[in-house]
Amino acid sequence: MYQILLIHGPNLNLLGEREPEVYGKVTIEKINAELEKEAGRLNIKLKIVQSNHEGEIVDLIGKAKNEFQGIIINPAAYTHTSVAIRDAISAASIPAIEVHLSNIYAREEFRHTSLIAPVSRGQISGFGMHSYILGLTAMTKILKDKT
Ligand code: DQA
Repeated sequence: MYQILLIHGPNLNLLGEREPEVYGKVTIEKINAELEKEAGRLNIKLKIVQSNHEGEIVDLIGKAKNEFQGIIINPAAYTHTSVAIRDAISAASIPAIEVHLSNIYAREEFRHTSLIAPVSRGQISGFGMHSYILGLTAMTKILKDKT
């Protein structure tokens, strides 16, 4: 069974109450429950983590290859700033997929640059909670195609 690490970055613990006009009313608990359901259908084991701390995310990615075959990450604000997370993904030697709830290209200009996208297999942006489900589907396909 494939094991995938899913990381929610900073402030995503506030989903539901945080800028609902941008991110909708869906909570992180609801997203995680939907992801677990989909993982069950796809026969994938998911580990889901939320962190507001850049170094903690770097540590998680750094250790990931021992336990996981892929990483799905919503780096949130770190998407646009973190060379450290980018380098961790680049060094991880397992595929990563970047996801965003909002369409970052339809928002402020500073969000149009992702430091993570060039070291990811692909980016999914703008489909709300479904971005995560699409990310999981894409990661499953990548891993099954390898075998
Ligand atoms: C986000 C987009 C980022 O620009 C922002 O900083 C977030 C959430 C998204 O999922 O749409 O915190 O990653």
